[in-house]
Order: sequence, then C-alpha cells, then structure tokens
Amino acid sequence: MNFIKVDSYEKLSNMAADIIANVVKENKNAVLGLATGSSPLGTYARLIEKYNAGELDFSGVTSVNLDEYVGLDGDNDQSYRYFMNKNLFKHINIDINKTSVPNGCAKDLNKEGEAYDKMIEELGGIDIQLLGIGLDGHIGFNEPDEFFTKETHLVDLDESTIEANSRFFASKDEVPKQAITMGMYSIMQAKKVLLIANGKSKREIVEKAFFGPITPYVPASILQLHKDVTVIYSEN
Ligand code: GLP
Repeated sequence: MNFIKVDSYEKLSNMAADIIANVVKENKNAVLGLATGSSPLGTYARLIEKYNAGELDFSGVTSVNLDEYVGLDGDNDQSYRYFMNKNLFKHINIDINKTSVPNGCAKDLNKEGEAYDKMIEELGGIDIQLLGIGLDGHIGFNEPDEFFTKETHLVDLDESTIEANSRFFASKDEVPKQAITMGMYSIMQAKKVLLIANGKSKREIVEKAFFGPITPYVPASILQLHKDVTVIYSEN
C-alpha cells in the first residue's frame, strides 16, 4: 500500500487528479470508477482545469460510479447522478452516454445490481477506482456488516451515515434510508484504487482501515489486500 500524508486538501486534490490524469493519458479509453461526497470535489475541479488547459481528453473515457440513493432520480439535486453531472461531467468532453451511475429508481434493484456488475465486467473492469471513506469505514455505501458483499446491492444505510449525510439535505428526515452500491468484487478487481480522505474527523477511521485488522466491520480495510492501492490523507 502506498500511504501518503499531505498537509492540505489542495495538495491531496492535486495529487489525486495527477494520478487519474496519468491513467487517462496512458489509455484514452480508460474506465474510471468515480465517487461522490465532499472529498473528491477538489480532485474533480483539478481534472476540469487540466481539461480546460488542453492536457486531457475524455472523449474515449467511460465512467462508472459507485453508488446512488434509492428513490432519487437524476433530476433530484441530491442524487449522485446530479452531483456527477454538476461537478464533473458537464465541464469535460466525456460522452454522457458512457457515464453510469446505478439507477436508484429501478423497479427491481436486484436486477439493476446484476446488470451493473455485468456492464462493468463487459467493459473489462475498472482501470482506476476513486474512493472516499465514510466515518464508519464505508466505501461506496458498503456499510459495516458481518460479511463483505461482492455484488452491486441494495443497502440499508447506517444511522451514522444518515446523520453524516444529512448536512447535504434540508433535514435528516429527507435523507434516503437506502442506497444501491457497487460491491467489493468490482472495487477489488479495479486495476488501481485511489482512496482520498481529509479532515481530523477521518483520522481514526483511516488508521483503523489501513493499519488495523481486515474486517467487514471496517469495510475499507479490505483494501489492504489490493495490490495497487494509494491512500492520500490530509488532516486539514
Ligand atoms: C458518502 C458516499 C461515499 C463517500 C462518503 C464520504 O456517503 N456514499 O462514497 O466516500 O460518504 O463522504 P465525504 O467525502 O463527504 O466525507
């Protein structure tokens, strides 16, 4: 594992964007696994800057996102589809038809999960998976549990996740109670994994996840078994 500690969110974002940019420069048809949350915002802003500077071409790139809230469609400004369009896709030349976010409004969420995994498989897997980490150690929305789940699946969000994510909603009651998330198989099969975490509040969980035992009670700890994982942590 490549664990990098930096002293600012700006450095974290620059470094993460450089790593993703190199993947796109090496392979114009790269498959990017993308994440939402506040952590990747700086990384996406840097990628947009690089695109505007003519350094990057996303026209051949495909993207797959980790997760989506159940019941929110892409027009809902709290949905992760909306987040991706707003914070990245509409600013770069990626083909929107080559961007995927699980459909949280699918009638049959199990089928949606199966189809999502099949799609990733058919793309040949993910070249680089960007991840944040939840305060409870979740990646995507893989919450602490007795076991790791392989497939893209429906999850009941933990009370602590609902609480943490309520900052984006008008009230806690508006936070969806369920989500659909990529499972550990697609994440662990990604050729590279890049996890970013910032803030003092993440320090304890980052230590547990990367320097503690590998346990489904700390979902991100499974990444210790990945052969090419970079963790960038900034306390500020
Ligand atoms: C959310 C997302 C995760 C994200 C995490 C941390 O619930 N599902 O993919 O990594 O929480 O979010 P933040 O970066 O805002 O701390």
